[in-house]
Amino acid sequence: MDYKISIAKLLSGHIDVLSYEEILGLVEHPKNKEMGDFAFPCFTLAKAYRKAPVKIADELKVQVESNELFESVSSVAGFLNFKLNQEHFVKTILTEVLTLGADYGKSDIGQHKKVIVEYSSVNIAKPFHMGHIRSTMIGESLNRIYKFLGYDTVAINHLGDYGTQFGKLIVAYKLWGDKAVIEADPINELLKIYVRFHNEAEEKPELDDEARAWFTKLENGDAEAVELWTMFKEMSLKVFDRVYGLLGVTFDSYAGESFYSDKMPAILSELRTKNIVQKSEGAEIVDLEPYGLPPALITKKDGSSLYLTRDLAAAKYRKDHYNFDKNIYVVGGAQKLHFQQWFKIIDLMGYDWSKDCIHVEFGMVSLEDGSLSTRKGQVVFLEDVLQKAIEQTRSIINEKNPDLMNKEEVAKQVGVGAVVFQELYTSRNKDYSFSLEKTLSFDGETGPYVQYTHARACSVLRKAGNTENLMLSEIDFSKLDDEASKEVVRLLSKYNEIVVIAHRNYEPHTVARFVVELAQNFNRFYHDNSILVDDEAVKLARLAIVKAVKIVIESALNLVCLEAPEQM
Ligand code: ARG
Repeated sequence: MDYKISIAKLLSGHIDVLSYEEILGLVEHPKNKEMGDFAFPCFTLAKAYRKAPVKIADELKVQVESNELFESVSSVAGFLNFKLNQEHFVKTILTEVLTLGADYGKSDIGQHKKVIVEYSSVNIAKPFHMGHIRSTMIGESLNRIYKFLGYDTVAINHLGDYGTQFGKLIVAYKLWGDKAVIEADPINELLKIYVRFHNEAEEKPELDDEARAWFTKLENGDAEAVELWTMFKEMSLKVFDRVYGLLGVTFDSYAGESFYSDKMPAILSELRTKNIVQKSEGAEIVDLEPYGLPPALITKKDGSSLYLTRDLAAAKYRKDHYNFDKNIYVVGGAQKLHFQQWFKIIDLMGYDWSKDCIHVEFGMVSLEDGSLSTRKGQVVFLEDVLQKAIEQTRSIINEKNPDLMNKEEVAKQVGVGAVVFQELYTSRNKDYSFSLEKTLSFDGETGPYVQYTHARACSVLRKAGNTENLMLSEIDFSKLDDEASKEVVRLLSKYNEIVVIAHRNYEPHTVARFVVELAQNFNRFYHDNSILVDDEAVKLARLAIVKAVKIVIESALNLVCLEAPEQM
């Protein structure tokens, strides 16, 4: 139950100058908890009623006072403060969590609106490195959060699988490629010949001409060029799928840059007929100076298309094909200008849906641990980091809980989860430095800490026997009147609100922070209260809390892309 809604409903019966929605928007949590659980500020009413806010609050207090939801309603300095009737509150929230289970916290504010979330968008024949984890995980988490709130989402991996670099790769492969060697370790070997191409092209610039020619062949559908490009792509995807598999990341579409190659002529002619492009030294550009932006290059001198042009075609295609309400791009802050430019061009084309295109940017990851750093200039492969995390978790498990069943599975869930959680625990615009050691700690604000708390709740429930059908009607909720219990229930009641805030700000970290706070408060509750006590009524009531916490931790972990093993 949403208490804000109940309060707004109650107040709207007594306030005629504001709509129900306006009232709902004003209900807040007081900064000072002493003041109560909810507050309604009366300042906006002063003008309409020609009365002092203090007086308005005094009068409203009299009108709404006797309601079973509240223990007390008070008027303080122009605020109407509500203190919840604890027993009623605890009963309502726990009943709701236990009845709804995994559906608790969901809502239908999405109303099946179509939201595209584009994320990861790695480049084929290039390393899937540690820097890609942010887009990949922020995007996957947003996709889950939007779905949870009733949106219809489409997860797109806009693969970097097109562009002049593939001309270079084809030339390099034809000169030095060995299929068997490359198949055994595609990314490293393709990278090797690509780097060699660059080195040799410095002495022999004719290599660059050859590369351009091969890219043109590729654009024109030349059989050999397409065959080689397809091979690079398939080999790369095999490696990427391994990483996505470890991370639990999935996509509805892998329509990458190449997918739009046949959609370029249409977008180019549209830009020309709408008089948006102009010639500049043989190339075509859009002048964006009136909007304070540098000019955008649309076609090169040789007529070949560019990254930005492909983004225009992709956005247009997505609008036509999916008719999105929102089109989200989870891409690093380094590309801010790129997105500003082409969003503006879409606007100039007369498409009002440019306002529905959103660049969700984020800061950089750097690496802190000596164990992960490599020689300067070398990238750290994400897969290696994940494998290292799994390995270290495996040895922690072998030491602490050697008899655990399905150790391998748990090592993966906890090791990978630790890396993912650290990623999402930082607000996205902050740069952060990754430390494997901090990440794997079981008692900091980490993934393993939360997973361990969940496993502890599961273990209590196992010891209690069958709690599948905890009979709600038999629970005496008045037994839960200690501070720790109240605080846990208060947090549980905020879950939906937290997820709504996370989706509004495109910030999975809001959920990550929440689940840490819930785990910390549950551990306090667990420390303060024995659960499996002789007094049956007390035991049942406390088990209800344990079960509800287990449900919400599992759900929140899932929204930030972590699994919740029952034992670890
Ligand atoms: N492949 C690009 C890169 O690695 C990111 C693509 C971002 N998405 C987009 N629609 N431009 O830099």
